[in-house]
Amino acid sequence: GFVTAAGFGAWAGIAAMTAPLDTVGKVEFDRPLAIPPLAGSTVEKGTRRFDLTLRTGSTDLGRQNPTPTWGVNGNLLGPTVRAQRGERVELRVENQLPETSTLHWHGMHLPAEMDGGPHQLVEPGQTWTPSWTIDQPAATLWYHPHLHGATAEHVYRGVAGMFLIDDPEEAALDLPREYGVDDLPLIVQDKSFDDDGEFDLSTSLFESAGIIGDTVLVNGTPGAYADVTTEAVRLRVLNGANARPFNFTFDDGRAFDLIATDGGLLSSPVRLTSLQLSPGERAELVVRFAPGERVVLRSENSDTLDTFAGGRDRLDIMEFRAAEQLDPAPAVPTSLAEVPRLDPNDAAIVRTFSLAGSTINGQPMDMSRVDEVVTVGDTEIWTVTNADGGSHNFHVHDVQFQVLDIEDREPPPWLGGWKDTVWLRQGERVRLIMRFTDYTSTQWPYMFHCHTMRHEDDGMMGQFVVVEPGETAGPIGGAGHEH
Ligand code: C2O
Ligand code: CU
Repeated sequence: GFVTAAGFGAWAGIAAMTAPLDTVGKVEFDRPLAIPPLAGSTVEKGTRRFDLTLRTGSTDLGRQNPTPTWGVNGNLLGPTVRAQRGERVELRVENQLPETSTLHWHGMHLPAEMDGGPHQLVEPGQTWTPSWTIDQPAATLWYHPHLHGATAEHVYRGVAGMFLIDDPEEAALDLPREYGVDDLPLIVQDKSFDDDGEFDLSTSLFESAGIIGDTVLVNGTPGAYADVTTEAVRLRVLNGANARPFNFTFDDGRAFDLIATDGGLLSSPVRLTSLQLSPGERAELVVRFAPGERVVLRSENSDTLDTFAGGRDRLDIMEFRAAEQLDPAPAVPTSLAEVPRLDPNDAAIVRTFSLAGSTINGQPMDMSRVDEVVTVGDTEIWTVTNADGGSHNFHVHDVQFQVLDIEDREPPPWLGGWKDTVWLRQGERVRLIMRFTDYTSTQWPYMFHCHTMRHEDDGMMGQFVVVEPGETAGPIGGAGHEH
């Protein structure tokens, strides 16, 4: 096995801390679900410009006092950025926070210098303006800070938002797509509060995997309900939590259609009654409703406590309230998008990554070390192992990958599409295949890491550059760049 006795011992120590969260009390759904506004933009000389300002604020989260929060263009979370494939975008990111931060476009294929990772610092009072041309299929992506050592905290305080990409292939499909009406973004996060109603940021909660909260916010709304006016609703679900995987299911066990994963549409819908998403993962679901009914979305039997303490969780997330009259909606198309399979025979190289302790392959993240050098145009296989049995997933910047196999078995149908983040059960080995295209730099790296945010901050992260054939990695940031 991959799990050492020492590893088990370390995790057993967590049991006492997480055990009381095994069952969480009934939630009253008494607040309408907030829908993040669409970010305003202007088009000038063919470039679509957005302004995103990171700032502090305060939010009524149902505690005795308003909770101090961070947000983008608002008090908590950020607006939904939306652009078309083929469009050139420019994001003006202004940092009005009291601390240095960054803003990373999770899932985006773009030049490393625009990626918003730990090397693209935005100091307080400064504005950073990345710009690139969107060239990837319609998808539900997201943005969040990526300051090394502080990603968990900055996301937890509230800096995160969705980034939706549209394309003609998706637009031609008969799918629900009226934003905020039958096409709902759901940013799902668990939070923990102290006695003053502030987010609990105490050290103990930041140990090991990080915060496992007992209160679920959807788009920053506690106890949220959404009014349903159509027979079918598309849910763009993002697990925006620090550490908790959610295993999404409905309280009556109803089936839904999974139509898209991290990087875009599946080739055809997959009928499911539950779907687990770990931190950073997204999925688009289409759910059907009958007139007048109320249905609760919950998380049940996720790997959270399975991993930490051998227990099982059950957590109510939000309620859907169907109107007495629902606008008709067609069934989900049986064929959605072309998802060309990457061929392992085309792979130029196999790299292996072992996740254990706060390291990958035994090394903690070093901002000045390039761990892997990739040649542009190459297809590669990355074999990733959860070697210590902790709560790990694996995320790669710049690319969308396909899961080749899990422990030599074909992946389940819900892992048949484009992914950028994948959950790794205890001891599990997953083979991923990906192709690196377009953007090269010898000095600006992309990241790969565990998306359990505490782990990433603690060093379970590495860096790769994509270079022209024959090139080697130069010093990060070029000569004179220091961290
Ligand atoms: Cu969602 Cu490297 O991050
Ligand atoms: Cu991890």
